[in-house]
Amino acid sequence: MSYNLLKSQREFLEIPHQNQLDVAVYQGGFGSGKTFSGSLLGILLCLKFAGIRGLVGAQTYTLVRDTTLQSYLEHLEHFNLKEGEDYFWISSLQKLVFKNGSEILFRTFEEPNKLKSLNLGFVEIEEMSDVPYSTFKMLLGRMRQSINPKWKNFRYRIFGHTNPEIRKGWIYKTFIENKKENYRFISAPTTQNIYLPDGFCEEMKKLYDDEYYRIFVLAQNGEYDKGLVVKDFSNENIKNIKYQPDMDLHITCDFNVDPMAWILAHKTEDKVFFFDEIVLENTTTAKTCDEFFSRYPNHKGKIIINGDASGDNRSCTSEYTNYVIIKKKLQSFGFEDIEIKIKPFNPPIKNRIIAFNSMIHSANGERRLFVDKKCEKLLYNIYNLRYQEGSSKIDLPSYTQIKSSKELKFLMHPFDAASYLVEFYWAISL
Ligand SMILES: Nc1ncnc2c1ncn2[C@@H]1O[C@H](COP(=O)(O)OP(=O)(O)OP(=O)(O)O)[C@@H](O)[C@H]1O
Ligand SMILES: [Mg+2]
Repeated sequence: MSYNLLKSQREFLEIPHQNQLDVAVYQGGFGSGKTFSGSLLGILLCLKFAGIRGLVGAQTYTLVRDTTLQSYLEHLEHFNLKEGEDYFWISSLQKLVFKNGSEILFRTFEEPNKLKSLNLGFVEIEEMSDVPYSTFKMLLGRMRQSINPKWKNFRYRIFGHTNPEIRKGWIYKTFIENKKENYRFISAPTTQNIYLPDGFCEEMKKLYDDEYYRIFVLAQNGEYDKGLVVKDFSNENIKNIKYQPDMDLHITCDFNVDPMAWILAHKTEDKVFFFDEIVLENTTTAKTCDEFFSRYPNHKGKIIINGDASGDNRSCTSEYTNYVIIKKKLQSFGFEDIEIKIKPFNPPIKNRIIAFNSMIHSANGERRLFVDKKCEKLLYNIYNLRYQEGSSKIDLPSYTQIKSSKELKFLMHPFDAASYLVEFYWAISL
């Protein structure tokens, strides 16, 4: 049985130089054929060089077992090779042995010291951007299995595949910036994989924002965390949003004493409308509820409370969690239909940022997040929240900076509040 390889897969398999060692990375978008080509190469090497010893690893063992090993087994089946005759899977050693004496060890790189005594002919690294540079360097030093004179055109090979790094890291530095003659960088956009189901890329275009799509589907090197945190926000995202007393009203909360930040929204299945904000200095959860009641005393629809999952922890100063306080207080005002909808724990902030940006402007051009001018502090965040230069951390003002410019203290919390809601309803799987 044969395969028709994609252009980048062929490039990945073939070595265009004469060096004894080949180091290659297949950097591709989601579903661009990374795992497929890595495992295919591993098997071809085992069949061609009888007695070769390979190591296949990833930062976590689940990735090796559930993805990479499965892909090896699928190829073996495709080649009509039979377990027990042509190859053996030795589960206790997590090792694949071929009848010609070649073998492949499947390992995690979590404890790289355990791999220090190996002498190898090839190494495959799954999801290379998760693996530290130090592990990669250690593996380079393991490429010293003695070469069998019968092996024609043998080269030691380290090959890996990866999604593009979210910011330029060691892979970019090693394979592009300071590239050696025997290091190869192969870029594979998802859009070139003709074996994917119809509409796969269109679906991602709808889900992701432009920059994320460019990096994780088109496989281009980008810097997702450079400059402004919120990308592509335009006047089209600003709307006069009329508060609707009969619709569900969402309050999405970030709890702080100074400033407390709650943003109010209506939402539909696929859109969100932030129509007001309650951002108060030196206050309490109960007082913020009073402010809400003074603005919306006659709300008839349901009230749904979203926000920071850690606001559900009982703080040492209060008997109740923030959410229980809000619920009780709103009930005391006569609101009956109140629901708390928060995650059991907060996802990493990166997830919220990606979800928020994707709603603002997806790669297929849709805008699904709208803000009323009344949400002054939220807009202030959208236009001013930035990453620190050269880091993926958000640039937050210091205490002294806040003292000299009071406005700065409103950075971050209103964005946090709004993005909790967005991530709750429209999370992007990463
Ligand atoms: N040359 C090919 N011939 C046939 N099918 C292929 C080929 N290349 C890739 N595929 C198929 O395309 C799909 C995606 O490939 P694969 O899982 O290797 O992508 P990936 O880049 O590892 O994806 P992920 O980002 O999810 O890790 C799989 O179903 C795979 O079998
Ligand atoms: Mg894969």
